[in-house]
Amino acid sequence: MAIQRTFSIIKPDATRRNLTGAIVAKFEEAGLRVIAQKRIHLTKMQAGVFYGVHSERPFYDELCEFMSSEPIVVQVLEGENAVARNREVMGATNPSEASEGTIRKEFALSIGENSVHGSDATDTAAVEIAYFFSGLELVG
Ligand code: CMP
Repeated sequence: MAIQRTFSIIKPDATRRNLTGAIVAKFEEAGLRVIAQKRIHLTKMQAGVFYGVHSERPFYDELCEFMSSEPIVVQVLEGENAVARNREVMGATNPSEASEGTIRKEFALSIGENSVHGSDATDTAAVEIAYFFSGLELVG
């Protein structure tokens, strides 16, 4: 199995409730290593660029408003099959459909305030990592 990197966001609903450490523990228990991490506060425009793929969706404005409402924690996670493993640990986008033990089942408040974001593929991960981290921040 290949060692991969994936991109992760701990969203405002989770940072507000002081859940950063509890969520990091879930990643680490799943064999994912946090190799870069920082807490930032996005502008609505920065959130809009990041989520540009959803710009035609009815929830886009609400999503960008929420993601810029309070600080987030952006991370690079590394491990075997990291993209898929992270998506398993996160659980389904809608917490009402998420499996027991997943982050979204335990912590998410709604489909919008769903505590975490994770890349959906290795090429997306590379683009998302480059949006938030410079090469010097990714020494591993
Ligand atoms: P995320 O994995 O960050 O990718 C896009 C986000 O859009 C998703 O998680 C959800 O938080 C959000 N989203 C998806 N569907 C809806 C919806 N129906 N209403 C509000 N937000 C949504």
